[in-house]
Amino acid sequence: MINDLWYKNAIIYCVSVGTFMDANGDGIGDFKGLMRRLDYLQGLGVTAVWLMPFQPSPHKDDGYDVADYYGVDSRYGDLGDFVEFTHGCEQRGMRVLIDLVVNHTSNQHPWFKEARHYPNSKYRDWYVWSKKKPKSANTGVVFPGVQKSTWSYDDVARAYYFHRFYDFQPDLNTANPDVQAEILKIMGFWLQLGVSGFRMDAVPFVISQKGAKVRNPVEDYDMLRTFSQFLTWREGEAIILAEANVLPDTDMKYFGTAGERLQMMFNFEVNQHLFYAMASSDSRTLIKAMQATKRRPLTAQWGQFLRNHDELDLGRLEKQQRQTVFSAFGPEPDMQLYQRGIRRRLAPMLQGDRRRLELAYSLMLTLPGTPVIRYGDEIGMGDDLSLPERNCARTPMQWSTEPNGGFTKSDKPVSPVIHDGAYGYPHVNVADQRRDPNSLLNWMERMIRMRKEVPEIGWGDFSFLTTRRPEVLAMQYCWRNNAVLFLHNLGSEPREVHFQLNEAAEKGCALVNLLSNDHSQPERNDKHGVVLEPYGYRWYRVCGLDYLLKRSAS
Ligand code: NOJ
Ligand code: CA
Repeated sequence: MINDLWYKNAIIYCVSVGTFMDANGDGIGDFKGLMRRLDYLQGLGVTAVWLMPFQPSPHKDDGYDVADYYGVDSRYGDLGDFVEFTHGCEQRGMRVLIDLVVNHTSNQHPWFKEARHYPNSKYRDWYVWSKKKPKSANTGVVFPGVQKSTWSYDDVARAYYFHRFYDFQPDLNTANPDVQAEILKIMGFWLQLGVSGFRMDAVPFVISQKGAKVRNPVEDYDMLRTFSQFLTWREGEAIILAEANVLPDTDMKYFGTAGERLQMMFNFEVNQHLFYAMASSDSRTLIKAMQATKRRPLTAQWGQFLRNHDELDLGRLEKQQRQTVFSAFGPEPDMQLYQRGIRRRLAPMLQGDRRRLELAYSLMLTLPGTPVIRYGDEIGMGDDLSLPERNCARTPMQWSTEPNGGFTKSDKPVSPVIHDGAYGYPHVNVADQRRDPNSLLNWMERMIRMRKEVPEIGWGDFSFLTTRRPEVLAMQYCWRNNAVLFLHNLGSEPREVHFQLNEAAEKGCALVNLLSNDHSQPERNDKHGVVLEPYGYRWYRVCGLDYLLKRSAS
């Protein structure tokens, strides 16, 4: 049956092993520590864990500079620990996705070392070289203000090499068939060790033509089909979740018209407009973003998220819109990054306002797609702006009021644990929130539980209801003879909305509130009237709770 596709109704949780839980007290999170916390993740309702890079690496870009694709960095454990971890997840019904960072390697990778030393080595052509400095050397940098160019001189090779990201991340020549074969081999390796797929890093750059003479690079979308086919041949349920911050009109190229390319992509378009909608209390451009990204093959899915380990990239907004988001959520220059984004965690962006946090999460959980939660956001963790670049939002998980938030017994944690102020671990930690029925953590657990009972969101068709109130987002999903409806008030004022359900058959239907007892009966004209509190939200089922019996088989 088509609804076997697990990722269409999953809850994905993103973990960085080095900052989650340290078991051996050396200050660095490790697989043994992460394993101790699997019950916590299962209890939260997570169904898939996305593990950030954990392979051997010089760690100049938080592990996105891989020096060996077939190993585990010894600071985190070994391959045996990794298999214990995937097994532990499997036992608890959770799948594992891992990062696949193959646009580039670390400059410490043996392939690159050999390539620069030996012009005749087969690895020479695994990278992208130029004898002369290409004219485009100062264009296309991904980290403006920190990264100066995309071509750097290597004095051993006596040539320039291409690097889309930092200079210690030489790009692989992904057009080379040997490199492509190696990528498949890497995927096959980890599949065999129990993963259900890959969060693929920098996909548009992986498939883009690379080279000194390339003026208008063309994308080789067919490469994505090759990856996807290989995955399905080896392991039918495995997927790729792509990091591809691309314009909506190329989405179908990435998914493939028949779903033959990527299974999932992060929805960056909706992400940016979601923050604009929250900053401006106006749902209209968010609606446009959802409409622009609506088309996708039945088997494909969006990953919907609020924040991740990078900056909140606002590069696709118009200048004025971006300014609005900056003023609302990151007004100080220190909070902004790469001339396009905000580097803060979610809770401080929303001034720790519980109403706004709930609104943001309720939105994320009900956007068309599968939610992806960043570790620590479930307890409202903060950031440490004294740390450089994106590191401010990568501090260790805060488990308890014990020293260093219970993350490590060492007094030298790999990254400082936030201890002072409103977001310090004495105030924000898992243990305290576990005990408080009204905590954000317990609220989140209840919401995740309900979200899993609403597969209409991941599978269904959505439409918007007219309320004449741009502050209020009113959307409905229909799937297999069932409908659900969500209201979100983006504004700081209470709002009364009146609306009619979209389907004629739903006229006269009651709306059953899924989160509280306040249901809505239609008025005489078949309209519903609901008063939403500031930042209020409602989750309704259309008609009764006998929906399970009404759900059709296809
Ligand atoms: C995207 C990752 O999310 C980011 O953290 C990293 O720096 C770049 N890709 C380069 O791998
Ligand atoms: Ca450790």
